[in-house]
Amino acid sequence: MSQTTLASHRRAFDVAAIRADFPILARQVHGQPLIYLDNAATTQKPQVVIETLQHYYRHYNANVHRGLHALSEEATAAVEESRQIIQQFLHAQSVNEIVFTSGCTASLNTLALAFSQGYLRPGDEVLISTMEHHANIVPWQMACQRTGASLKIIPINDLGELDINQALCMMNPKTRLLSLVHVSNTLGSINPIHTLINAAHAQKIPVIIDGAQAVAHLPVDVQVLDCDFYVFSGHKIFGPTGTGVLYGKAQWLDQLPPVFGGGDMIETVSFERSTYAKAPHKFEAGTPNIAGIIGLGAAITYLQQFDMVEVEQHEQQLLTRAKHWLAQTDQLQLLGDSANKVPVVSFYCEDVHPHDLSTLLDYEGIAIRAGHHCTMPLMQRFNVPATVRASMSFYNTLDEVDIFFAKLEQVRRQFQ
Ligand code: ALA
Repeated sequence: MSQTTLASHRRAFDVAAIRADFPILARQVHGQPLIYLDNAATTQKPQVVIETLQHYYRHYNANVHRGLHALSEEATAAVEESRQIIQQFLHAQSVNEIVFTSGCTASLNTLALAFSQGYLRPGDEVLISTMEHHANIVPWQMACQRTGASLKIIPINDLGELDINQALCMMNPKTRLLSLVHVSNTLGSINPIHTLINAAHAQKIPVIIDGAQAVAHLPVDVQVLDCDFYVFSGHKIFGPTGTGVLYGKAQWLDQLPPVFGGGDMIETVSFERSTYAKAPHKFEAGTPNIAGIIGLGAAITYLQQFDMVEVEQHEQQLLTRAKHWLAQTDQLQLLGDSANKVPVVSFYCEDVHPHDLSTLLDYEGIAIRAGHHCTMPLMQRFNVPATVRASMSFYNTLDEVDIFFAKLEQVRRQFQ
């Protein structure tokens, strides 16, 4: 959809109306209205996404890119329409730059495997940061083990911000890749990726951005960012689980080898040798998550009805309110207080283990996450075993934030 058409489809930002689009938000948990503050783990799905999945299975369930019958053609057209929606959403230059995967983790593993085949060599360095999710650590550790490259870690400061000077110093002729999270899932910090992409490119270092926690909160333009790759998961942007996106600049996708072999990714196959399809199909072996991909297209179209500036304004109000409550007590230590944050607060409570807090809050209908949030090195950096994390979305309300902190205080007092 063009920007002009999009603007004419814009919906006014009205939280009550948005909540009505998400059927699950009306349910009760343990007899209490659900307060869902675990959006960094997964977001809820609007009715339109649920209906899109049902409609596919009820009316045109068929495999894609294979059959010449009507159902297959309809399914193929719907999958390719989703690719186009995502291309426009990310402002990619071409639909061929959008690869479907099963999630952000699969996208990062695909890249780590592809870069392990002849690109990374002994002595090379892969640069990541202290605040990476395990999905942007472990695949690179494995790639380093396979190739003899080594992993270098950009430090962060006490506010949970990247140490930019250190990052710049760490980029050197041995650095072959920079793979960086856009927004931290644990801290909510928004990293100045544009600055780092420019600095990396000045040294001809390609850059991968993990956008899993960014796309539901911030507008992303891969051409303005000029990143080489941008990856995210569908389920964190109101789409189905088991869907993901790997955006790569055409010149990279053309150059990189495929990592999974099978149907749909080939041009010709003989027992002597096979030749591969062009990107993006080269990276999409086997039957994809057809329903999920179509549902992801519906989720992104749904989100595009809203002005992201209004989404951000509302989310910043939620964050400000959460930080206001956190500041009321010395026993709650906020991890990371970056000036640029999405509405995620992780905190450590001196009196109560995060898991106990989470369990007791669940009885109040409140869903939060407790643990290391798949960022164990980050926990080590802050010297805490685990935190409580409340991660908000545009459908959360200020009342919900107030109730969460009031209940948290009640639960905490029970332990005193
Ligand atoms: N990466 C997800 C989270 O942060 C699962 O909770």
